[in-house]
Amino acid sequence: MMKCVQSWPEPIVRVQSLAQSGMTKIPEHYIKPPSKRPSNVDNTTVNIPVIDMQSLTGDDQGLRETTLQLVSNACREWGFFQVVNHGVSHELMKRARETWREFFEQPLGVKQEYSNDPSTYEGYGSRLGVEKGAILDWSDYYFLHYLPPALRKPHKWPALPSSCRDLIEEYGEEATKLCGRLVKMLSLNLGLGEDYLPNAFGGENVGACLRVNFYPRCPQPDLTLGISPHSDPGGMTLLLPDEDVAGLQVRKGDNWVTVKPVPNAFIVNMGDQMQVLSNAIYKSVEHRVIVNSVKDRVSLAMFYNPKSDLLIEPAKALVTMDRPALYPAMTFDEYRIYIRTKGLCGKAQVESLKTHE
Ligand code: OGA
Ligand code: NI
Repeated sequence: MMKCVQSWPEPIVRVQSLAQSGMTKIPEHYIKPPSKRPSNVDNTTVNIPVIDMQSLTGDDQGLRETTLQLVSNACREWGFFQVVNHGVSHELMKRARETWREFFEQPLGVKQEYSNDPSTYEGYGSRLGVEKGAILDWSDYYFLHYLPPALRKPHKWPALPSSCRDLIEEYGEEATKLCGRLVKMLSLNLGLGEDYLPNAFGGENVGACLRVNFYPRCPQPDLTLGISPHSDPGGMTLLLPDEDVAGLQVRKGDNWVTVKPVPNAFIVNMGDQMQVLSNAIYKSVEHRVIVNSVKDRVSLAMFYNPKSDLLIEPAKALVTMDRPALYPAMTFDEYRIYIRTKGLCGKAQVESLKTHE
């Protein structure tokens, strides 16, 4: 039976309030053990692949093929890429960041009205997981459901700033439309035809949740993380990163590569359900966020997920004698209970399900 925890194990402390208090030492339960600190500084100049989506709509067939191939390589080698010329208005992207920054900059009392609890996670939150005494991450967030429309609860969205609810609708519409295009492209690239993955996600009933992350500046950024290493549990994530502040790091072998955001780009990454559906041809790659002592950082993560009660399993066309199905069939509802109770733990979840080596 699904365990439905109704309340947090400890009083919730807003990380933003800690940052604003002027403290010079962070509280103990944000301090990661030495091996988990962001010490291995990334001084590589590599970046995750940048894909120009313009060519996908033009008539140059050769260019289109080249772009699809670049996406295919990015999905296999990185599990991550950035997209430019993606069709979403740059003005809307800017407004989305600014509106949410405004939300977080309001007095604590205004935001507390939207405090979330672990039964749904919807609203204003400051932790993931309900294990008492857990080491926490240096971030606050706002989590809400956008799709399917039946799960949308605009009264749980911020009423202030006054443009926020309209912004969520407008941004949600554009972001999920782009997700739809991207999932079709991934489906095509896997040789499944462009409708396979959209259908596996539930067609019209696809799910989408928005998590807006707020990473306050931190007096001791070397001791903690904005988000601990994790892979995203859902299908695919469309991330709108902060314009000015880097922070996202992607695992590449034993290294962490810092993503250098390209102006007006989105960052796209594969989630665990994509790893399962593709029978691990595409990997949901671990990532984490580092913080800094100078600037707050805002990001908007749109999680594009399979309809939560559909069975997700490796596509039959990708299961062969040489490559048996690596994962059992499971609904996304069943899958995410684990993360919501334990918190983030790298790729332990999807790995533990493996039925073959
Ligand atoms: C997430 C995430 C990265 C970022 O919300 O799952 O990985 O840069 N966010 O905020
Ligand atoms: Ni993530």
